Amino acid sequence: MGRIKIFDTTLRDGEQSPGCSMNLTEKIEVAKQLERLKVDVIEAGFAISSPGDFESVKSIAKTVRDCTVASLARCTKGDIDAAWNAIQGAEDPRIHVFLATSPVHMEYKLRMTPEQVLMRAEEMVRYAKGYCSNVEFSCEDAMRSDPEFLKVVVDRVIRAGAMVINLPDTVGYTTPDEMREMIEYMIRNVPDSDKVEFSVHCHNDLGMAVANSLAGVRGGALQIECAVNGIGERAGNTSLEEVVMALHTRPNLYGEQPRIDTRQIYRTSKLVYNIIGQTAANNKPIVGANAFAHEAGIHQHGVLANKLTYEILTPESVGISTNQIVLGKHSGKHAFETRLKELGYELTDEQILMAFARFKDLCDKKKTVTDGDIEALIIDAGVPKGTENYKFVSFAVSTKGRSGVEGTICLRHENTYLEQTYCGDGSIDSIYAAIDRIICPPEHTLDKFIISAVSEGKETLGEVSLKLRCGERTYNGHGLSTDIMEASIIAYLGALNQFME
Ligand code: KIV
Ligand code: ZN
Repeated sequence: MGRIKIFDTTLRDGEQSPGCSMNLTEKIEVAKQLERLKVDVIEAGFAISSPGDFESVKSIAKTVRDCTVASLARCTKGDIDAAWNAIQGAEDPRIHVFLATSPVHMEYKLRMTPEQVLMRAEEMVRYAKGYCSNVEFSCEDAMRSDPEFLKVVVDRVIRAGAMVINLPDTVGYTTPDEMREMIEYMIRNVPDSDKVEFSVHCHNDLGMAVANSLAGVRGGALQIECAVNGIGERAGNTSLEEVVMALHTRPNLYGEQPRIDTRQIYRTSKLVYNIIGQTAANNKPIVGANAFAHEAGIHQHGVLANKLTYEILTPESVGISTNQIVLGKHSGKHAFETRLKELGYELTDEQILMAFARFKDLCDKKKTVTDGDIEALIIDAGVPKGTENYKFVSFAVSTKGRSGVEGTICLRHENTYLEQTYCGDGSIDSIYAAIDRIICPPEHTLDKFIISAVSEGKETLGEVSLKLRCGERTYNGHGLSTDIMEASIIAYLGALNQFME
């Protein structure tokens, strides 16, 4: 038994799923946060898949120092060359090679015989090894593969030099018992199994990805592949926050804990949700709004008597502060900075100054500023906004009875103030149309628009996440303000500024 490693695939399996795409700056921000979270491996992308993916893998490899950086590659020389070219600047680069091993994938997708699959896998692991000592091999659709055949594939790729053997449940089909048995079987029957680490990569089609990953660990797997907020193909991947907190809550069951700084979990989850323009379901474990709420009287009574009655983990352990009233308009920069440190944020002097200015601004608008508000400000500042080509100055809306709502917007572009008015169906519709009149962006649609409250009460900060589509490309926008119209404008401008870059 050794320490369990967390392999994060938010930027590859997560990012490739519909509605989760990110641009280069967004990916780099996520990678930096994953480094703060202390994942062991960041799968930064699939270098061959597009020039954009190649660039982002390369940039992440250069930026991140404290994690292994991996790129995915099919079993072809072109894929492996691209993967290596993208990751070679990393402190610890890894080439992640995969080939399907299940009968249905080999026959219909690859159109290869099992013997050809064996030879290709072995040959391509050797080829990858020529570049890089750290090579992982994944038997795609392992959990629907014949264990006897899988054993031979695993044996061959270990001989060819693979250091990590991943057995994915590609279609989310397996059960915890099967997963555990499969890993145990490989460890027992493959001659050099003790020289490599086994890994699990589970999809959540039947809602069992976390359970299956944990069962794999019970069977002897030492690496869990997962994604922040469980994003990924179809129903997603194993959720990082859930699997990590399951390990953390039951240490006696799973051996040595991963090195994750669990207090960074909430911040990481929020950052990813803000970037992809999604929010957690209220009942989402660990990061959902109700994950730590006790509503039923009998539960509240129990928790008041002793927290252990209904609470198996604390909000603080994942970085959610329960402190209500913290600082106000009379608090100085020093108190603000101290509170940020207590909340686990290490910011540069420049970031602190900017955050403090926004905090002061908020104090003028809101009587009580909570830890939640402060965290929302910091997380919002971490969401890349692109260049502020057009900057928000002011807006006004007035209802015109049956003829709709009149929206007026003022923006600053370079040193010129630009104003436009539009009469539309509602406030957002008219303001967005007025903005379009100023910027004249290409044809686009608003694919997603979510408004949510940061905390409780009428004074709460409102958050808007949206996604604009222009042809094949999507652009995310995020806005935060005590005024929901202002948050909507900031989010819209953020996305438009990116696509006018
Ligand atoms: O689900 C899967 O099988 C994968 C592999 C490419 C690792 O994502
Ligand atoms: Zn996958």
